Amino acid sequence: MPVLLLLATLALGSCGGSEPNQTVVIKFPHVTAPATPKGRTAQRFKEMAEARFPGRVTVEVYPSSQLMNDDDSLEALAFGEVQMIAVSLSKFDRLTQAFQVFDLPFLFPDIDAVERFQGSPTGQELLGELTDRGFLGLAFWHNGMKHFTAPIELRKPEDAAGLKFRIMESDVLQAQVQQIGGNPQKMALGEVYQALQTGAIDAQENTWSNIWSSKFYEVQDYVMETNHGYVGYLVAVNPQFWQSLPNDIRAGLEEVLAEVTVWGNAQSETINAEGRQKVAATGRTTIVTLTADELAAWRTTMLPVWEMFVDDIGAERIEAAGAPE
Ligand code: LMR
Repeated sequence: MPVLLLLATLALGSCGGSEPNQTVVIKFPHVTAPATPKGRTAQRFKEMAEARFPGRVTVEVYPSSQLMNDDDSLEALAFGEVQMIAVSLSKFDRLTQAFQVFDLPFLFPDIDAVERFQGSPTGQELLGELTDRGFLGLAFWHNGMKHFTAPIELRKPEDAAGLKFRIMESDVLQAQVQQIGGNPQKMALGEVYQALQTGAIDAQENTWSNIWSSKFYEVQDYVMETNHGYVGYLVAVNPQFWQSLPNDIRAGLEEVLAEVTVWGNAQSETINAEGRQKVAATGRTTIVTLTADELAAWRTTMLPVWEMFVDDIGAERIEAAGAPE
């Protein structure tokens, strides 16, 4: 995306840094609730970083789009207005096509498969994909697998025909929704509840923890447990800011981040399972479990999306991510 790229390039030299003996302040905005996988892991990072560097490091976590939405945080990081972000991989679409691999429908059967890919050499390489553009990737954090929510029961892909789906800012997700006959609309997470409530959009896709914490079950009569895609994050800092940190602080924060990443990723599935239970307990929405045959039909309908994006993403990357053929 040219404007953002330009901004990032201009800002590379102007992000500031820390003077010796000055407290390093890391503003860390994100869009999900504190009780989500990302919310909890960000909070844990704050606690551990501040405990490790008392008086030298302060981490200010701003959850729930309180400070800004994800799109704005990409620019704010470039300008040094915030120092750390954990933005959904889907939302880097304007900056790189490499991350589109994470949006391919039905590529990853579960979080373990994602974890294996992210830990592989091809996956690890992606952490550095955007360094030149002002985003140094330090870690991947999981949220979980996505499901569709809608005002009607969607057993077959054709049932989605004509529905307006909110999607994250990703061309793969756009193609995926078009493939099932829906109308995709890119929108920030913080706007989705109201858009569903007022009928500006009909449906959306998300993880159980987000369906729970964003209360989508209040305004969606059905949740289809499709597990058709992945939501995860690139934890990124501005490379110039990071380099400007005193060596001991930078190395210490990288250690803390590595530790909280393992901690957070290990419990993301549990948090999503809890979200599912809480949604079910409200009785306000119907959870639809699809049969293997029904799921196969969704997969077949969405699979052409791989072909549409194979050149952009790279066949080798898709293979490395575990595509069967
Ligand atoms: C979204 O729908 O925008 C979210 O999945 C993003 C997030 O941070 O979990």
